Amino acid sequence: MPLLRTPRPWLRRPQAGSAGESSAPVPAGQVATSLVGESTRLRPLRSSEIPILLSWMRDPQVGYYLGRLPFPIPWDVEARWLEESLADPRVQLFAIETREGRLIGNIGLHHLDPAAAQGELSIVIGEVDHWDRGYGSDAIRSLLRYAFESLNLERVHLRVYEFNQRAVRCYEKCGFQREGTTRAALYRDGRFYDEVSMAIQKRQFLAQEQSG
Ligand SMILES: CC(C)(COP(=O)(O)OP(=O)(O)OC[C@H]1O[C@@H](n2cnc3c(N)ncnc32)[C@H](O)[C@@H]1OP(=O)(O)O)[C@@H](O)C(=O)NCCC(=O)NCCS
Repeated sequence: MPLLRTPRPWLRRPQAGSAGESSAPVPAGQVATSLVGESTRLRPLRSSEIPILLSWMRDPQVGYYLGRLPFPIPWDVEARWLEESLADPRVQLFAIETREGRLIGNIGLHHLDPAAAQGELSIVIGEVDHWDRGYGSDAIRSLLRYAFESLNLERVHLRVYEFNQRAVRCYEKCGFQREGTTRAALYRDGRFYDEVSMAIQKRQFLAQEQSG
């Protein structure tokens, strides 16, 4: 199968400002590229920015959708998870900036698997006043372009709680399709909520990019 013979660039990552491959390896866990969309720019996340990410996760309006409330995970556990993610070669984390340079969120690919050519997408627009203005979908499209054209993934998947209709709508706009449901995945306020699995394949994404 041709895909398996293709080099996997997360083992040999692109250099800053380039969407292509390079022979110089970048240290594990670091992303060395900048992805420019219509309204956002994705750039490598810095470990010095972890406190900002934590403050977003702690914001009740944001944390509600991440399943962390009403029982927030301890600060040091979250911080350690983010530190480990930044150092993990199977994870690529980006900061989301507006084109004017304001940091508004983060986006990433997790569980990157060379054999399976797939990864799991995560996204948080932490600045709530920036929701519903198209930044999330723009950042996702940039990340998908990178995932399929530079990392040569075959499939990107994600999980979202059923009550997060804003996120579901955003993912559908980007071409994700529902694949399944994990029932009673979250217990909150005396009831259980389902979690929806969604995914997009490379050929689907490229076709929708071509059709504009
Ligand atoms: C989910 C998130 C990434 C989306 O980013 P965003 O910039 O707000 O998304 P966009 O503006 O690109 O798209 C949102 C869409 O949802 C729609 N929407 C908003 N609230 C909605 C609701 N209650 N029901 C249905 N659609 C809704 C918006 O109108 C918009 O659709 P449109 O462009 O057709 O009008 C962002 O809101 C966020 O980070 N939320 C908190 C954390 C989170 O939920 N992360 C994802 C966990 S899986």
